[in-house]
Amino acid sequence: MDYAKNILETIGNTPLVKINKLTEDLPCLVLAKYETFNPGNSVKDRMALTMIEDAEADGRLKPGGTIIEGTSGNTGMGLALAAIVKGYKCIFVMADKQSKEKTDILRAVGAEVIVCPTDVDPTDPRSYYSVSKRLGEEIPNSWYVNQYDNLSNTKAHYQSTGPEIWNQTEGKITHFVVGVGTGGTISGVGRYLKEQNPDVKVWGIDTYGSVFKKYHETGIFDEKEIYPYVTEGIGEDILPKNVDFDIIDGFTKVTDKDAAVYTQLLAKKEGMFLGNSAGAAIKGLLQLKEQFTKDDVVVVLFHDHGSRYVGKMFNDEWMKKMGYID
Ligand SMILES: Cc1ncc(COP(=O)(O)O)c(C=O)c1O
Repeated sequence: MDYAKNILETIGNTPLVKINKLTEDLPCLVLAKYETFNPGNSVKDRMALTMIEDAEADGRLKPGGTIIEGTSGNTGMGLALAAIVKGYKCIFVMADKQSKEKTDILRAVGAEVIVCPTDVDPTDPRSYYSVSKRLGEEIPNSWYVNQYDNLSNTKAHYQSTGPEIWNQTEGKITHFVVGVGTGGTISGVGRYLKEQNPDVKVWGIDTYGSVFKKYHETGIFDEKEIYPYVTEGIGEDILPKNVDFDIIDGFTKVTDKDAAVYTQLLAKKEGMFLGNSAGAAIKGLLQLKEQFTKDDVVVVLFHDHGSRYVGKMFNDEWMKKMGYID
């Protein structure tokens, strides 16, 4: 019989799917690494499990312990699934701009969820960075995951996502394009691919209101780049340790409106019902058109599932209210 011993064994080995209509004007083959096939419906299952296993191995996480994390939802889902199988408690701290579906989903898998204001400085005691850190210090037998600076995040993608993409493209990949939040995906996959072939180009998708693009281009952390934005999952107002700027060849920024519109277009034109950062990623890839030639094989990674955005990017009333559609 062929079966997984528990749900965690189904993480990874996701398909690579050709994008057809949206990329018609590009000269190259564009393939999507389709991460919603993971059991928690996002790429984050991979790094959640690796972070837990590494913390178990060196004693940071002990039997019966409480896992604490600041998460926009997907990492929380991955951690919660692993916590259920392995017998841990979870407390997640989220920013209030995240969609309600994400909070409900985390509660559905047994986590306690605390919601914090989005529009405060990361160092403000009310920010979700500060609250999660404080809870980690106060709650006995707890472990604060810190996906931003926890390098097991990058390691997970170096060990699984990167090799999968390399093997699925039979080493023919020329460009990797992906949204950047904690940086784990781009750094782990990018490092693996460049070790196989240093000519592979790695492009990050950033958003307006985030510091990444300017920092990469100038080395300046410019606070003037920081302001609230709507796009979920990508861009930051901090420099996470998981972003390895040296392996990234460039960033392109996508507007909130374009990210939202292209999230709808992926569903309507390709049958790909995906999250908001997938819309940003495909639009960013189209912005990079001049980078690609006929024989290129471009892989774009799509992080999460559309079901988490039915109240926003898949709700036409919300889209109209935001001025994104007529
Ligand atoms: C929906 C979504 N897209 C993109 C990202 C960015 O991925 P990474 O944190 O690996 O840079 C995240 C991370 O939180 C996410 O949840």
